[in-house]
Amino acid sequence: MQKIFYLTTPIYYVNDVPHIGHAYTTIACDVLARYKRMKGYSVFFLTGTDEHGLKVEKAAGDAGEKPIELADRVVERFSSLWEKLLVTNTDFIRTTENRHKEAVREFFKKVEASGDVYLGSYEDWYCVPCESFLTETQCVNGACPDCGRPVEKLKEESYFFRLSRFTEPLLKFYAENPDFIQPASRYNEIVSFVKEGLRDLSISRTTFSWGIPIPGNDKHIFYVWFDALLNYVSALGYFTGGDAAAFWPADVHVIGKDILRFHTVYWPAFLLSAGLPLPKKVFAHGWWTIEGKKMSKSLGNVVDPRALSDEYGIDQLRYFLLREVPFGLDGDYSRQAIIGRINSDLANDFGNLASRTISMVHKYFDGKILAGAPAGPSELRLQEKTRAVIDDVDRHMNALAFHKALVSIWELVAMVNKYIDESAPWVLAKDPAQKDRLATVMRACVDVLKISSLLVAPFMPLASQTLWAALGGQGLVADQQIDAVAAEPCVPEGTQLQKISALFPRIQADAPA
Ligand code: MSP
Repeated sequence: MQKIFYLTTPIYYVNDVPHIGHAYTTIACDVLARYKRMKGYSVFFLTGTDEHGLKVEKAAGDAGEKPIELADRVVERFSSLWEKLLVTNTDFIRTTENRHKEAVREFFKKVEASGDVYLGSYEDWYCVPCESFLTETQCVNGACPDCGRPVEKLKEESYFFRLSRFTEPLLKFYAENPDFIQPASRYNEIVSFVKEGLRDLSISRTTFSWGIPIPGNDKHIFYVWFDALLNYVSALGYFTGGDAAAFWPADVHVIGKDILRFHTVYWPAFLLSAGLPLPKKVFAHGWWTIEGKKMSKSLGNVVDPRALSDEYGIDQLRYFLLREVPFGLDGDYSRQAIIGRINSDLANDFGNLASRTISMVHKYFDGKILAGAPAGPSELRLQEKTRAVIDDVDRHMNALAFHKALVSIWELVAMVNKYIDESAPWVLAKDPAQKDRLATVMRACVDVLKISSLLVAPFMPLASQTLWAALGGQGLVADQQIDAVAAEPCVPEGTQLQKISALFPRIQADAPA
């Protein structure tokens, strides 16, 4: 049976336009999805948009539009951006789609049948921008502890979910699944929160109308998080016998750290109540600041991923986001940082290795790969390192440690660059008696380059394809199986290499101010 892998991004609110934070999660998931496909998995990669709720209703009102008009307009900004950034999502779910609404109703009925829903009344503080409910003690001087904006008091009849019943079952689940919440520091944060005891959760509203009505009482609209979290199963056609239902439970939900509680407390509790299996892992990444400052509309420093990819290149942006910051920690974006990464890691190290190797093969052998002499100790060391790097990359990718995977690949690149310097092909080329040795050196470099083109392919789909094809690779690099290619003696004798121009042109650094 084929191995399967299901991963998701959060679904993005349509009251905002896509920024670098959204692109970060989506690109990270895309890299993992591409990698898993190249490791033989059938992958279901889901992203989408969160379109209901007071926040969207208000934004539409402000723009003089109907909520669905706003959603239709903004959703296109997301989907076209993902296309541009070469994101290979399997599906795109919108919470306004019928398939989603039906699933929410079905799911609710299951939770209701478990006795976990009751009608009560509700009075609490509410932060509209965050769509979150707060207790008196959570508010800081009448403001939201997360965003600092004033909170509103709400009292209304509401359906409740008996979250309090799940304190013990959740603690048991966390204890039995210590890898469920990643990074590990986040695990402790959630366990301590749940240990304090959980309050029942209001899951319906009567104060706005833009959402999914509760079956049997349509004065009530589902609380946006109950609605939104369900996207992860509704997209699979879980309740309607869809083919993709077998992908549940998710292997990983990738999210930002601000929405961890929703995914590791509420979501598993809903699933336990409805009798569905729980996701295997929730990974919370950190937040990007911009040149040291929080990104915000009011500061006018929101970074548009579309503009960045136009300026620096799609591969370059993807590489930067995943290499610059350990996945799970906060990071800072600056022009200087992205230009530094492009010039040093991509142009100098990787790009230069590719150009110098291919141009030497052209110079010495008209671009042809010759059999050469048998591999010597230094070639064997390179082969051994290549195998080790393939394993390291796998370990790191499975841990979503993207930066470590890239560091491993770059160790290999550095080793080949050093091997070239030590083997000095330009010296060997002067002595006809060394022709076989020269061919061996060239072949060793080309072999590693070919494997490297596969390993970087999930991160940099464009440059890896150019390199793969230049080295005589057939078809699309994205369609290759890393282990199958690695198992063969890599580049066959007689292969004709194609010349390439610089894979990653250097970027002129800013002139000092
Ligand atoms: N709609 C909810 C998610 C529902 S999932 C069932 C939501 N949407 S959002 O559009 O506000 O945020 C989506 C993601 O963007 C979150 O994971 C959030 O962490 C991430 N980011 C928002 N700003 C960010 C940065 N500055 N840096 C990194 N990620 C950031 O929440």
